[in-house]
This record gives sequence, structure tokens and C-alpha cells, in this order.
Amino acid sequence: MEAALVDAAEILRAGGLVAFPTETVYGLGADATNAAAVAGVFEAKGRPATNPLIVHAYDSSMARQCVAHWPVRAAKLAERFWPGPLTIVLPKSELIPAIVSAGLETVGVRVPANLVARRLIERTGRPLAAPSANRSTGISPTRAAHVLKDLNGRIDLVIDGGATLVGIESTVVDVSGDRIRILRPGVVTAEQIGMAIGEEVEGAECVLGSDEERRSMASPGQMRVHYAPRTLTTRWDVTDVERFSKEGKTGLLVLGHRGFAPTWDVAMHIELNTAEMAQAGLFEALHRLDDALLDEIMIILPPEQPEWRAVRDRVLRASRLGLMRE
Ligand code: TXA
Ligand code: MG
Repeated sequence: MEAALVDAAEILRAGGLVAFPTETVYGLGADATNAAAVAGVFEAKGRPATNPLIVHAYDSSMARQCVAHWPVRAAKLAERFWPGPLTIVLPKSELIPAIVSAGLETVGVRVPANLVARRLIERTGRPLAAPSANRSTGISPTRAAHVLKDLNGRIDLVIDGGATLVGIESTVVDVSGDRIRILRPGVVTAEQIGMAIGEEVEGAECVLGSDEERRSMASPGQMRVHYAPRTLTTRWDVTDVERFSKEGKTGLLVLGHRGFAPTWDVAMHIELNTAEMAQAGLFEALHRLDDALLDEIMIILPPEQPEWRAVRDRVLRASRLGLMRE
């Protein structure tokens, strides 16, 4: 691992691209202070230039160099949640070129908890701009093999740190305005953020429609179709799903409904019973289902409880409504 880190740091300092594990998902890193290197990230992913990248710092003091101000709110959040899966959006400093933030005045920064990630940033000595290491709109990678499936030949190196622990991307919170807003739900919840700052927080609701559209504009990466398998992927309420006949080779992903037994034959059946298991295993399950060459992946939606919010958000983006097919 030490040798891989030395190589990786050298590649990054020379403007190359290195995929590395974080506690959430694998990131595709480039030196965040090097505009040409960052352009390579957009190209490798096929990412629209309008979608800003998250900057990963070794510690709070490196993160502070990336932003123009460090308000009390940010200090409280950093103290409580870093290193960890929380991205804080603040006005950016001149250290960060415009391409990183897609021309926005703000930048999202976070200090990851994964030790490989932190040692890589430390060795490189620069903040790393790193979106999830998948092709744009694809399923986020939670293993090095997922990264290679999507990006082999388009990047310089992948550091294999095994499966990621958290499994879904960081919570993104915007503290640059008057009101504190969640732009992307994750394992750090709006309630926890509100408690840490002692202010009310606008949570991201998992609804499609006009709210969703508005949120897409606030956080440009939050496109409606995202994290999508190549296979047709539909979502169903547990009460509806039996009413429709299923043809072809289907795969079933059951979220939060322990023991749900389909009345039709399924080629692959994955159950993730608790919100925590689903966070850790959702993308892994979607990769497996997508690799199984099915005609359709059907996802049974989890209960509408707060602990399922982040998983629900990802499922809504990965799938279309099952009923709309009929
Ligand atoms: O857990 C994570 O956050 C992973 C790992 C690698 O750290 N990274 C990740 O990056 O998920 P990405 O690029 O796939 O998602 C970044 C999200 C997008 O929704 C983007 O729009 C939002 O963060 N974002 C980044 N900078 C922003 C800014 N200045 N204002 C609003 N949203 C921002
Ligand atoms: Mg992503």
C-alpha cells in the first residue's frame, strides 16, 4: 500500500488521475489546484462541465485554504463530523480554479475518514478534487472493481482499499446562504446537522416534481436520472407490485421489507433489511443486478421513514416508476 501511495501521489502532483477509496464511495481524484488536471476528471467521466466537484482535504486547516471564509457554522460542522461523510458548501478561495466548482462562487469541501484517502492527500500535499469514480450518470463505485469496469484505460491508477464502509455518497450541506440547506441527503442527517449548529436546517425532500427541479438547480449534480444501471430499472410500492404480471428475466431488490416473497420467478433476489444495510449495500447490489444481464431490475421501495431518506433519494434517481409502464 505504501508503494501504491507513493506512486499515486507522484501521478497526482504531475496532473494525473487516481481513483481512491473514501469511506463513502471511490473517488476519481485530481490535484484540485491544477485546472488542467481537473479538466481530465470531467473528460474521463464524461461529466457535464456544469456539475461541480467536491474538494477533499487532509484536515480542517487544508479545507480552510479552499474557502474564502470559515464561518462559525462550518467550524461547528467540521468539529462534529470531520473526518467523515459530510460535504460543506462555502464561498471558494482563489486557490481553487473555476473549473472545479463549474463556475459557481462556492465550493464543496470535505475531510474523508478513510485512512488511505487521507494518507494520499497528505502525501500529495494538495487538496484533491474527486467526484465518484464512475462514468457520468452511472452507478457509484464501492469497490475498485466497479471503478475499473467503468473507467479502465481512462485513468492512471486505482488504489484498491477494499469495499467502502458507508456505501453512499456524503451529505452535501450548503452553509453559504442565510439558511442552511441540505443539497444531497446522506448518512449525516438534517437533524444531526441542525443539532450541531443549533439552527434550523432545510432538508432535501425525496419528492419528484417541482421541488426536485428546484433542487437540481441548487445542486447541479443532482440530476433526476443518476446512479442508473444500464438495465431497465423500475421501483414499486410493496403493496402494488403483486398486481402486475412480470415477464422475462427479472431481478428483485427488496429494501426494508424482510421476507418479501415474490409470486413470480426471479433470477436474482437481494434483500437489504435495515437502512444501514441498504446504505452500505445499495450500489453493490445495483452493480450485481446490472451485471447479471436481466431484462428488468425491480426495486421494492423502503418504508417512508426518516432513516431511509438517503437510500430513497438514490433509488428515485436510479429508477423509473414501475406503474408508468403499464
Ligand atoms: O461521498 C462523496 O461525496 C463522494 C466521495 C468521492 O467523496 N463524492 C461524490 O462526488 O459523490 P460527486 O461529484 O459524485 O457528487 C458531488 C455532488 C454533486 O451533487 C454536486 O452537484 C454537489 O456535490 N456539489 C459540489 N459542489 C457544489 C457546490 N459548490 N454547490 C452545490 N452543489 C455542489
Ligand atoms: Mg456521483
